[in-house]
Amino acid sequence: MEQQKAATLAEIATADAAALEAIRVATLGKSGTITAYLKTMGKLTPEERQVRGPVIHGLREAVATAIADRKALLDAQALDARLATERLDLTLPVALPPAGSVHPVAQVMDELAEIFADLGFAVATGPEIEDDWHNFTALNIPETHPARAMHDTFYVERTDGSDAGAEARMLLRTHTSPVQIRTMLSQQPPIRIIAPGRTYRSDSDATHTPMFHQVEGLVIDRGITMGHLKWTLETFVKAYFERDDIVLRMRPSYFPFTEPSAEVDVGFTWDKGKRVIGGGGDAGGGGWMEILGSGMVHPRVIAACGLDPAEWQGFAFGCGIDRLAMLKYGMDDLRPFFDGDLRWLRHYGFAALDMPTLSGGISA
Ligand code: PHE
Repeated sequence: MEQQKAATLAEIATADAAALEAIRVATLGKSGTITAYLKTMGKLTPEERQVRGPVIHGLREAVATAIADRKALLDAQALDARLATERLDLTLPVALPPAGSVHPVAQVMDELAEIFADLGFAVATGPEIEDDWHNFTALNIPETHPARAMHDTFYVERTDGSDAGAEARMLLRTHTSPVQIRTMLSQQPPIRIIAPGRTYRSDSDATHTPMFHQVEGLVIDRGITMGHLKWTLETFVKAYFERDDIVLRMRPSYFPFTEPSAEVDVGFTWDKGKRVIGGGGDAGGGGWMEILGSGMVHPRVIAACGLDPAEWQGFAFGCGIDRLAMLKYGMDDLRPFFDGDLRWLRHYGFAALDMPTLSGGISA
C-alpha cells in the first residue's frame, strides 16, 4: 500500500485534467482499488482492523487530498490561460461610430410629431396606394372636377383586374388629405390628428419631385372656428422655426374640401442675400413665402364621413414637409433629397440618437 501510495501521488503530480479524472476513477471510484480496500474492512478481525485501518484510511486521505490539490491547480491554470486569451485592451480606440444619419425629411417628421403631440394631436396614417373615392370623391372632388387635372395623378391597375367603377380606381395618393376621410370614418370626434407621409404627382423640377412628403392636420369637434386654425398654425410655425417673431398671413384661396379656404404665408427677412424665416412680411424689405393650404372642413366632406355637419365642424391643413425642411435647414434644390448621395446625407443628416424634444430643443 505504501508503494501504491508513492506511485499514485507521483502520477497525480504530473497528471493533466483528463489523466487526473482517470486516476480518481481507478482509485476512489465505485470499483477503484482504494474503494476495494475499504470494502474489505468489514471482514477483518478487530486486531487486523487496528493495524490495517489507519493504513487504508491514510492512503485514501492522501490520494483524495492530492487529487483535490492538483485539480485546484489545474483549474487556476486554465482560468489564467483563458483570461490571457480573452484579454481586452481598453486603451485601444473603439470601432468607428455608425455611419448612417437621419434624413432631414425623417427629422422634420419627428419634429412635427413632437410639436403636435404637445398640442394634443395623435399621428394617423393611411395607404399610399389609395382609391379614387378616398383621394377625390369623398373630399368633394367629383369625377368632372378640374382639380383632378391639377393633381397630375399616377393611376395604377387594380390587382384583382376588376373594373369596379370610377370610384374604385386605384392611384398613388396625390395628397395626405385622404387620411382625413379614413380618420373620420374610423374614429368618433373629437378628432385631433396629423398625418405625415409620402405623396405622388407626375411633376419634376428643382422644387418638385414625383414623390414628395406632406403633413395633414385635422381637427373635428363642436364649435371649431378659423380662430382655432390660426392659433394652431401660429403655435406650430413658431415652434418649428424656433422663433417668436414669426408673422403669418392668411390669403383667401380655394380647395374643394375646405370652405372657407386660406393659403398661409410666412414672413421672411433678407440676411446676406439669403431669405431667413421670421419677422419681415411687408415691413423692412422682407417678403412672404407660401407654406401651406388650410381651411374649415367642407360640410360635404363631414357628411361624406357619416357625421352631421350641423353638429361637427373642424379645420384642416396640408403642408409640404420637404419644403419645410428646405426652409429650416437651408437646401435650395429638392432633387438631391431623393438621390441617395452619401455626401449630401452626411452634410444634411442628423445624428440617430438626437431625438427632437420640446425641452431639449426641437432641432438640437
Ligand atoms: N391637400 C391640399 C394640397 O395638397 C392641401 C390642403 C389640405 C388644403 C387640407 C386645405 C386643407 O394642396
